[in-house]
Amino acid sequence: MISGKLRDALNKQVNEELQSYYIYLGIAAYFEEKNLNGFAHWMHLQAEEERNHAMRIYNFLYDRGARVNLLPLDAPPAEWASPLAAFEEALDHERKISGLIHHLVDLAVEEKDHPTQAFLQWFVNEQVEEEAAADDIIQQLKLVGDAPTGIFLLDRELAQRQPAAGGESG
Ligand code: FEO
Repeated sequence: MISGKLRDALNKQVNEELQSYYIYLGIAAYFEEKNLNGFAHWMHLQAEEERNHAMRIYNFLYDRGARVNLLPLDAPPAEWASPLAAFEEALDHERKISGLIHHLVDLAVEEKDHPTQAFLQWFVNEQVEEEAAADDIIQQLKLVGDAPTGIFLLDRELAQRQPAAGGESG
């Protein structure tokens, strides 16, 4: 049986992952408005991954005999100064999420909850990939600067992103 403390923390993480979904959907909407459809496509897939992250935790809580209490979401920003600023916000957000996941692992160790520790390892690895993916695009955007041709080519590249296998990782 999962402890009340750990249950509440995982329940809060469901909310954090759904909040991530909402932030990425907001960034996708910003790109859509700018006719950067490849950037928007990349963000839509990212948003979908976040929903899947939330569902992983949701299902785990039910597997452990706990129930989920859905919490309110905050409205995401609607405007960014540039594509670079939008991706920098995404990276900052992922760093925050990584910290929350690490805190959950610490709590699972404290509570001697081995199934939760094992469950969370997937998220620890996933966060490394998520931070790297956002940082990679930031570096490319910095190289491109304001050059429209560079933004156009990067938009075409990001349009190639495929959904993760099983829709749950990547
Ligand atoms: Fe679910 Fe991007 O962290």
